[in-house]
Order: sequence, then structure tokens, then C-alpha cells
Amino acid sequence: MADSSGIFRLGFMFFVAFLVTGVRGAKFDGVIQACWASDHVIYDGELLKLKLDNFSGAGFASKNKYLYGKATAEIKLIEGDSAGTVTAFYMSSDGVNHNEFDFEFLGNTTGEPYLVQTNMYVNGIGNREQRMDLWFDPTTDFHAYSVLWNPRQVVFLVDDTPIRVYANHEDSGIVFPRDQPMGVYSSIWNADDWATQGGRVKTDWSHAPFVAAYREVRIDGCEWRAGEDWAAEIKRCSGSEWGKEGRYWWKEKEMEALSVHQSHQLMWARAKHLVYDYCADASRFPEPPAECKA
Ligand SMILES: *[C@@H]1O[C@H](CO)[C@@H](O)[C@H](O)[C@H]1NC(C)=O
Ligand SMILES: *[C@@H]1O[C@H](CO)[C@@H](O)[C@H](O)[C@H]1NC(C)=O
Repeated sequence: MADSSGIFRLGFMFFVAFLVTGVRGAKFDGVIQACWASDHVIYDGELLKLKLDNFSGAGFASKNKYLYGKATAEIKLIEGDSAGTVTAFYMSSDGVNHNEFDFEFLGNTTGEPYLVQTNMYVNGIGNREQRMDLWFDPTTDFHAYSVLWNPRQVVFLVDDTPIRVYANHEDSGIVFPRDQPMGVYSSIWNADDWATQGGRVKTDWSHAPFVAAYREVRIDGCEWRAGEDWAAEIKRCSGSEWGKEGRYWWKEKEMEALSVHQSHQLMWARAKHLVYDYCADASRFPEPPAECKA
């Protein structure tokens, strides 16, 4: 299968699979598969649902790995009481020195706001949490949550508004996630030891099952060819030229930094919605981490 192509491929595969088999959920089958508790990964018409009950959580993973690209999930979070639950959408590589970019949606009691925690692991080290509330209720409609990753920056976006940027400052000796292909994952689980109001509010199982619904999972990325020469794959996916298989738009010039408009959006989102930033947490980090000063 050729690289990139995201929505076209997804649309085409849906069309073909539908014609050939009529299988429900075929829209997702080209991109992802259940990877935890497949009986809690449910196809419901055009939607994919992850279900958490007192027996199990659930999760899915991309079929391929990618080195750079943009991954998006359109999610409607758990309605009503979601206290104690976490729904995550993330990218991760494998191994002890792994990289990881996380969205973790922390549930709450009915009517109280969800928090979106983002975190990043670079070469196996995390502890880079930021938390925001949202400018909409994420439980009443689908919204797009994305990670854009290229050799210059990692950007977390909500409905295409950037909420967090980790720029490449390797020239100042700051680590940057590179050279490891990443899978795209989502899961739902019980985290009532910490998720809601610091763990004070526990999951109320009488409200189970807790269900997060997905309308689309879209990955535009340089598909990693497992089994090929590692160095050649890195070169193929990170070079500045376009890919042979098509346009690698996620690493073109205009993707190397935020536009002026996006910078304003980021400032707005942080000013209005940031509730926690590890960079400003002097009790955890008396000396701010290097990337926070860059
Ligand atoms: C839940 O609601 C409370 C009260 O509004 C708020 O303090 C908290 O940040 C919210 N989110 C989480 C994940 O606890
Ligand atoms: C799960 O929850 C249901 C409904 O509250 C309850 O009837 C059942 O016994 C629980 N099962 C387990 C394994 O805890």
C-alpha cells in the first residue's frame, strides 16, 4: 500500500470494502484494529465505540506505523457521568527509549468539565503534562483531536486550533522525538485513583458502560515499511523532498512552524483554557526543564 493519502485511501477502502463485503465498520478497517478487549470495541453503524465497564476497558491501534505525519480522531466523549475514566488518543513508538504524544481526556461528574491532559515522552522520559479545559462541551458532539509531527515540531490541535507546540531545539541541546516510527492508539480505562479531581471522585459503576464514540480516524503519514533497512526508512520519511508516493504535506515548509494566525490561536487557547503547565510547576521542577526555557 502506498504512503500517505489519508482521507482518500480511507474513503476508497470504505467504498471498496463496502461493495465487496458490506462489512460494518469497514470505514475504520483500513486504518485501525482492536488491540485490547475486542468485545468492548463496537461497530455501531458509521461509528466505532470504545466501552468501559467493570469487566474491562478497550482500545484500538493503527495497523501501520508512521514516521512523521498527522493523526486525527473525531471523538464524542462519554456523556453524563464520566468521573474516574480516562479516554486517550496517542501516538507511541516501541521500546524503553520510546517517544509518545498523548491526549488524555479526564472524565468528570455530570455537568462538570472534562480536562484535556497532554503529555510527551521523548527518549523514554515523560513528565511533561499540561492540562486544559475546552471551549465546548466535548460530550455533546464530535470534535477533531490531532497530533501533527514533523522534523521541526510536534503540535497538538483541537478542531485545528493548536493548543500545544514542542518545537525542535536540538541546536540548543534539547531532545526532540525523531527516528522512531510510531503507532496511533486510542483506549478507555478506569483511572479513578488519579483522573478526576485528583482521585477524590471514584468511578460510579452504576453508570456503566462508559462509551466514547469515534466518527473518524484519519492518518496522513509516511508509512513505515517494517523489515526494510531502518536507516533507509528514516531517510525516506524524514528527507525534505516530497515522497515518491505523493506529497508529504506534513513536512513541507509551511508546516515547520505555526502560521501567525495559528500562533494567535495558541496564545488564546493557553490564556483562556490552560489550567496546568509542568513548565510553571516550581514544586516539581525548581529548575524549569530545558525545553520550557527555549
Ligand atoms: C472536574 O470538575 C471540577 C469542578 O468543576 C474541576 O475542579 C476539575 O478540574 C474537573 N476536571 C477533573 C478532571 O477533575
Ligand atoms: C458489574 O456491575 C454490575 C452493575 O452494577 C453488577 O451487577 C455486577 O455484579 C458487576 N460485576 C463485577 C464483576 O463487579
